[in-house]
Amino acid sequence: MKNDKLIHKKIYNQYFTSKRLLSIISNNVRRFDKSDISIMDPGAGCGSLSISAIKNIIANSKKVRFIKLITYEIDDYLILSLKYNLNALKKFGLMNNVAITYKIINSDFLISKELRKYDLIIMNPPYKKINQSSKYSELLKKYSVNTTNTYTSFMKKALGQLKTEGQLLSITPRSFMNGFYFKKFRKWLFTNFCFNQILVFDSRRLFDGVLQEIVITDFRNKHQNKNICIQYIGKGDNKIGKKIVANYYDVYESTGEVIRLIRNYTDLNEIRIMDTKNSLQDLGVSVSTGPVVRYRQKPVDLSKHYKRGFYPYIFGEHFNDNMELDWPKKKVKKFNYLRMTKENSSLFREESIYVLVKRITAKEDHKRVKAIVLDSNLNYSKIAFDNSINYLFFNNQYNLNIDIAYGLCVYLNSSLFNKMFRQVSGNTQVNIFDLNMLSYPTLEELKLLSSGIHENQNIIDKLVNRVVLNNRSGNYES
Ligand SMILES: C[S@@+](CC[C@H](N)C(=O)[O-])C[C@H]1O[C@@H](n2cnc3c(N)ncnc32)[C@H](O)[C@@H]1O
Repeated sequence: MKNDKLIHKKIYNQYFTSKRLLSIISNNVRRFDKSDISIMDPGAGCGSLSISAIKNIIANSKKVRFIKLITYEIDDYLILSLKYNLNALKKFGLMNNVAITYKIINSDFLISKELRKYDLIIMNPPYKKINQSSKYSELLKKYSVNTTNTYTSFMKKALGQLKTEGQLLSITPRSFMNGFYFKKFRKWLFTNFCFNQILVFDSRRLFDGVLQEIVITDFRNKHQNKNICIQYIGKGDNKIGKKIVANYYDVYESTGEVIRLIRNYTDLNEIRIMDTKNSLQDLGVSVSTGPVVRYRQKPVDLSKHYKRGFYPYIFGEHFNDNMELDWPKKKVKKFNYLRMTKENSSLFREESIYVLVKRITAKEDHKRVKAIVLDSNLNYSKIAFDNSINYLFFNNQYNLNIDIAYGLCVYLNSSLFNKMFRQVSGNTQVNIFDLNMLSYPTLEELKLLSSGIHENQNIIDKLVNRVVLNNRSGNYES
């Protein structure tokens, strides 16, 4: 029986909403000013989310007299408890003069043909990648709800079933708000619906056995409001932060179509300053991911020591804390050299000035972006970059200047840049999508920042604060 439960948990992604989350989400249900309302809870489990929302409506929307609830639950095992709990809810409604009717649909919500419209949809959908070459993905295409994850497909389907002014409240991972894979979904979402508010949790441990950044989002079926509310929820029980009211265009960055999670009004001011600055493209800088995948190289072509015909092969372990390259490394864990052969020659790059950024950082690392400068003093004509790093390079000779590379490296290592990165991404990976989307100082400012190379974090942050944000107080709030 216990095993059955675990299998179902895994197959159907049964991570139930805790009491604390139930109260936070249902406190954000809108007020209703009419007597009849309809609600849907897709992926209802035992019904706790819709039950909590309906209790809140009964307490706060006094005009409501009739509630029609539709629940979807794919797992037969849960239907009995769902029925039991909804019958109890019906009785609760009667005691409060509210007639509640409910329907349980024991099938897959995503391919349901029933397309009724609702005043409120509340959900904690299953999270699972959808393999884009699977039959299921083909099926979802027919229903126009194919996305890269089940939770975004649930959102897509649910949003299509909102009445005008209707509300969708969902608990989901934060991942749809940035990155390349959800871009198409975001475009559709932000063109058609109003992003009303977002609650962000500091803790990543909201569901048993899951370590993930979770958000509660509130979308409405109407034109976008001028403002969006953002609220942070701390790790303790009642640590609900102040609401920040930000302009939609401060939160929604339209070039990358990403959402920036602003924590306070200092962040907001910085975003407004940085939005007037440059993109990497404006600076004549491009970024790519290292093309060499170590396990695809023949063992005889990899070496820790120099041999004829071998060239520098750079990994994250060659980054030192002083923003310099530590190569060749005496006690190297991976390798220092790669042999150039006919098959792999296209993977090598010309020796030049580069700024290197680690692509993969450890979860416990507070700093996400770590950069070093590679100047052209290795005395090799070619160089190989491992797939675990990104390399920034200069597109024209005019910009190929070591001071600009130093300045860029200082800026990438600053607390300001790291904060801007965290505003758009909860990932431990630093992808070229993120680096291309963020803002950078002007060339003149980068030259001034070059004096921060090899300095400590405090000096770097003060310098960036003064040069880039024009803040002379020297204080830095992170
Ligand atoms: C993350 S749980 C949330 C359950 C409940 N709403 C809660 O908040 O505690 C997701 C639920 O969706 C159900 N489910 C998974 N895939 C589904 C699908 N395609 N259609 C309908 N229900 C589904 C699972 O069985 C599970 O009960």
